Amino acid sequence: MNYENIVVETRGRVGLITLNRPKALNALNDTLVDEIGHALDGFEASEDIGAVVITGSEKAFAAGADIGAMASFSYMDAYKGDYITRNWERVRSCRKPVIAAVAGFALGGGCELAMMCDMIIAADTAKFGQPEVKLGILPGAGGTQRLPRAVGKAKAMDLCLTARFMDAEEAERAGLVSRVVPAEKVLDEALAAAETIAGYSLPVVMMIKESVNRAFESSLSEGLLFERRVFHSAFALDDQKEGMAAFVAKRKPAFKHR
Ligand code: HXC
Repeated sequence: MNYENIVVETRGRVGLITLNRPKALNALNDTLVDEIGHALDGFEASEDIGAVVITGSEKAFAAGADIGAMASFSYMDAYKGDYITRNWERVRSCRKPVIAAVAGFALGGGCELAMMCDMIIAADTAKFGQPEVKLGILPGAGGTQRLPRAVGKAKAMDLCLTARFMDAEEAERAGLVSRVVPAEKVLDEALAAAETIAGYSLPVVMMIKESVNRAFESSLSEGLLFERRVFHSAFALDDQKEGMAAFVAKRKPAFKHR
């Protein structure tokens, strides 16, 4: 497929999606989000891919949903059209891990897209924000829900209500991003992390992703029970035999299910 708004590549066992609307700082539109979904479908189906990285440009991961496109929306246009969000949860539903490599602006829908990924690796130039309030709207693609879960109520309220941006250092302190690296290294760092993950047993990686996500969807005791059941099921995999045998033999494991 010829993509209009993204570039899709593979690097080793990693699928790479680069947002590519440079004139609008990668502002998100329906086509772009649908294209991400299409690329993820391909990566998910491919036995050669174990993890995915989504990135933007040096200046912007994504500066939000396309404001020009939304400016004249009526309520019915917004409700019926479900602009950018009609296919939004596709990133979250991807069963393989997805890493966001963020440099520059990740604002509004851009911040929300990054937060839907399993982890965010940030350049020291990254700026996160939910500035929708300045436009007379509110975050509509998960910002008021995922941001407090990531950084707590106080900072989420601060960002959503004042529209101020949070730099990479503050974002790391607050728990929104897992690592901060110099801008020129952010993509390599994310690709290396993804390649590491892609080298492990895919079913186990998927079980880990499912279990960590469960922590945000259930009580502690339900989550612990879920983890225990999944943990026990890992012993049905030959990759568990291989991983433990390799440890005992002091050699590198060669996982079969990748
Ligand atoms: C459309 C955008 C855009 C956006 C930037 N551009 N953000 N176009 N939608 N979200 C365009 C600008 O119009 C400009 O086009 C070009 O990109 C470069 O931007 P500048 O403003 O000239 O750059 P700069 O001065 O460096 O400022 C960068 C910026 C600013 C701080 C990121 O562009 C900005 O505030 N953008 C909007 C951020 C925002 O409010 N995001 C939330 C959107 S609402 P021209 O043609 O003039 O060169 C949202 C809701 C999601 O995301 C929920 C939906 C369900």
